[in-house]
Amino acid sequence: MKSLVYLDHNATTPPHPEVIEAMNAAQATGWANPSSLHRAGREARRLLDDARERVASLAGVSDRDVLFTSGGTEANNLGLERPFKDNRGLLVTSRLEHPSALAYAESLESRGVVVRWVKPERSGHLDPAAIAAALADRRPGEPALVAIHAVHHETGAIQPVREILARAEALGASVHVDAVQAAGRVDPVIWQGAHTIALAAHKLRGPKGIGAIVARPGVQVRPILRGGGQERGLRPGTVDPITAAGFGAAARRALGGPERYAALAPLRDRIERGVYEVGQLHRTLIEPTITGWRAPHVCHVLVAGWRGDELVAALDLEGICVSSGSACSAGTAEPSPAIVALVGPERARGALRISLGETSTAEDADAFLAALARAISRSGLFSYPNRRLRPRPHRRRRGLDRGGPRPRGGLRRAQGERGRCQRGCAGARTRRGRWRRRSRR
Ligand SMILES: Cc1ncc(COP(=O)(O)O)c(C=O)c1O
Repeated sequence: MKSLVYLDHNATTPPHPEVIEAMNAAQATGWANPSSLHRAGREARRLLDDARERVASLAGVSDRDVLFTSGGTEANNLGLERPFKDNRGLLVTSRLEHPSALAYAESLESRGVVVRWVKPERSGHLDPAAIAAALADRRPGEPALVAIHAVHHETGAIQPVREILARAEALGASVHVDAVQAAGRVDPVIWQGAHTIALAAHKLRGPKGIGAIVARPGVQVRPILRGGGQERGLRPGTVDPITAAGFGAAARRALGGPERYAALAPLRDRIERGVYEVGQLHRTLIEPTITGWRAPHVCHVLVAGWRGDELVAALDLEGICVSSGSACSAGTAEPSPAIVALVGPERARGALRISLGETSTAEDADAFLAALARAISRSGLFSYPNRRLRPRPHRRRRGLDRGGPRPRGGLRRAQGERGRCQRGCAGARTRRGRWRRRSRR
């Protein structure tokens, strides 16, 4: 069996040995119900309190401001629900959000809340001025919320959260920040300070099934579940002290995370250079999805002529774990709504995300690049099967077309070349370098 090369750290991260150790140690007392008044309950409660303190110091708040949840999804749901008690008000957000916020925004819309979907910049970023302009729709006396992410789960784009927060506050709106991909990875100044913040332990090398919503003092979270009085009655249900102990250990480690992640930038750049070289070698157009400010550990590209999930499957056969979108949407043939919002549905199909983590090495990068080259060359796919992306020879000769790399051996050699396009139609190149279909599969 081939050894596994894991380059999908935005989907989840492997638990750190310190986290496993903390959870093993917690087994002795953490089995009890932390709400029980007896000694066993109090000991379990202590584990929960310690974990809460550690998560609070990661978020730069006091432990009273942290409520444990089942993960990032529930924290985003709570953050978006909070101001819209009477199904009235304005929500400003974008199609770039993670499905846990996007789907909740859609449900609020169907309940009568006005939702303004801000168009993202082509660079992959949100424009604070566009958000401020959308807030102008606010009716006096009605609540207004801006829901944004700090680091994008697919592209790794870092959003100007502080600027958006300042503008929103000046207009009397509150802000919910999905910091699931940001906490422990980028400078906390980027994501701290919002009215509510969503966190998830499993992106910090902690356990799955636990996260937190952090609320500023004076900002009251409204429960979406009905039940007991746990988490100050705002999030009913028994929190597992053992999982919480793992979250606490992960949060403590995550204080030094941004420095460790910053050191991954050269490896990310090496992968990116290698990916474009593979594209040139095999005459496949591979282009970056975003430009500008971004996290140091994510490489997101668009591979023309491929469906990202097919490429992921081909790489998986070689023992390489990468992804074509967010793990929550994996298994659907549809391209990610976030990437569609940036580049349109056709190009979004070829999305490929390589996300590094603390365990990633140069050998992982080399193994990935070699497997990518093999997958692309084996496929027999033509380089520019797509009408829009195909280079136009006459413009190319004049150096006008930057649609992709020039075929090796020049255009004449490419003529007559046979193969299949991405839909499986057999065909060949014509004298003018065009792709002509001969038959259907
Ligand atoms: C940005 C972002 N928000 C929210 C979530 C959901 O977190 P969880 O899987 O803990 O529910 C994820 C998970 O991938 C994410 O990347």
